[in-house]
Amino acid sequence: MKLGTVVSTFDGPNTTKFAFVVSDNAFGKVRKGQFVELEHENGKLIAVVRDIFRSNRYFERAESVAEYERAGFMSSHFPVDEWSYTIAETSIMGVYDGKALRRCSFPPSPGSDVNSVDESLLFNYLGFKKNGLCIGKLLNHDVDVRLGLSKLFQKHVAILAMSGAGKSYTVSVLLEELLSRSVEDGRIGVVVIDVHGEYSQMKHTALSDRITVYDASKIKVGTKNLSINMFPFYHSLSGPQKRVLGSALSTLKRAARLERKLFTVKDLALELSSLEDKNSAKTRDALLDHLESMRKMRMFGKVDDPSVSALVKPGHLSIIDMRNVDSEKKKQLIVAYYARRLFNAVKKGRIPPFLLVVEEAHNFASEKVRREDMLSKQEIEKIAREGRKFGASLCLISQRPVRLSTTALSQCNTHIIMRVTNPYDINHIGESSEGIDKHMLNSITSLKVGEALIVGEAVVQPIFVRVRRRKYDFVTDGVDLESLAREYERKSSARREDVEAFI
Ligand SMILES: Nc1ncnc2c1ncn2[C@@H]1O[C@H](COP(=O)(O)OP(=O)(O)OP(=O)(O)O)[C@@H](O)[C@H]1O
Ligand SMILES: [Mg+2]
Repeated sequence: MKLGTVVSTFDGPNTTKFAFVVSDNAFGKVRKGQFVELEHENGKLIAVVRDIFRSNRYFERAESVAEYERAGFMSSHFPVDEWSYTIAETSIMGVYDGKALRRCSFPPSPGSDVNSVDESLLFNYLGFKKNGLCIGKLLNHDVDVRLGLSKLFQKHVAILAMSGAGKSYTVSVLLEELLSRSVEDGRIGVVVIDVHGEYSQMKHTALSDRITVYDASKIKVGTKNLSINMFPFYHSLSGPQKRVLGSALSTLKRAARLERKLFTVKDLALELSSLEDKNSAKTRDALLDHLESMRKMRMFGKVDDPSVSALVKPGHLSIIDMRNVDSEKKKQLIVAYYARRLFNAVKKGRIPPFLLVVEEAHNFASEKVRREDMLSKQEIEKIAREGRKFGASLCLISQRPVRLSTTALSQCNTHIIMRVTNPYDINHIGESSEGIDKHMLNSITSLKVGEALIVGEAVVQPIFVRVRRRKYDFVTDGVDLESLAREYERKSSARREDVEAFI
């Protein structure tokens, strides 16, 4: 269908953009973000509508308009409708020569017809894959957005948006896609760090046989797998204290390796108490105090529970539900520990390639906190830098991109950006997302819930997407104020009745 005609403007058409005047019969059918095509010397030229303007010569001079309006309506004096026109400005994506989209090296001619794009070809132009992950539909088109697994995850993904924009929903759509893949398409293991316990409800869907939920408050870390800098009190230790602890730890680790004698924090404390050296008595007592508080955390045992091989299985989703863990330190320790263990295991080929999804990533890889003070940041940045060679992928989710580690964010080669209104975050996204222009940045504030801009490795050029609905829907626990208030009153009246019954 013909949509319009290319016009000459002050600086166009050139090899990157052109404008066209919209035909009368296509009025209302051209929208911002829509793809259009036109015949070009080297093939089909594909462009995307960046903005639309309407104009009418009769209404250019304010004083004349005001004057005529005073005397009655302009439209009764002049044929104003006939002078109204619509102009669409486009950015050129490239020229499709039958095989691939190539850079446009010669501008289209003014006067050329602009047509609606052939949607079946759009799928190819945009580099979507038949066996890719279907995240939703291209905005303004009936085209499935199917992103290739490697393109999307191998070089990591960041999902950035303000609260309530649909980040977690989008993740659950991607999880559905990952869990529905066949062996031939390539299946990876997925581990989700579920800070608010939202994803555990997925266990009650038809996908339940492929999902395991772990209560993070019951996780046990194998003491023998801890390196000394993973001890929660490591940074408060003096040099001599670190030395003494290090040597006791190596003694027990050696015994574990040679004699298969596993040990716990209590065993480590016993080993330290048996040190005879008088000079180190003070050091030893201080360490024993630390070990006692570490033991009280109740998260260190003889072996890992769950083990890394239980967590990562092809086509399987493991959800680490942190709802019952209050301490931020403990949450960070769990993320740091498993990130390190998973990465080491995949490097050695002991587990299949995996995707680690981290909700509230700014709390585990904060820009402001020093690496030494935040173990989880070190480990996340390490996977971000080196993971792709070994099949360790990250999906970082954050509602405060400004607070997320720039090292980690810059290694995420695909950004899925949903609605953001905070100007600091928008600026930050503009600086950290490659290929985003001013027009797109401005559109981010007006995205609706469930709409996203995808930029980077996974797409040939930035695209706007309407994230699809979940196939296996589930309800997350009600968190609206009304239900919280009702829940509180219900609980307190039950408590009152209990007390009255007791009296
Ligand atoms: N693609 C979509 N289709 C239908 N509903 C959606 C879609 N995306 C989001 N929603 C709805 O919008 C609401 C908010 O989504 P979601 O919980 O994913 O936001 P969020 O960005 O993760 O927020 P927060 O930062 O607070 O975690 C949910 O109730 C969800 O059902
Ligand atoms: Mg969320």
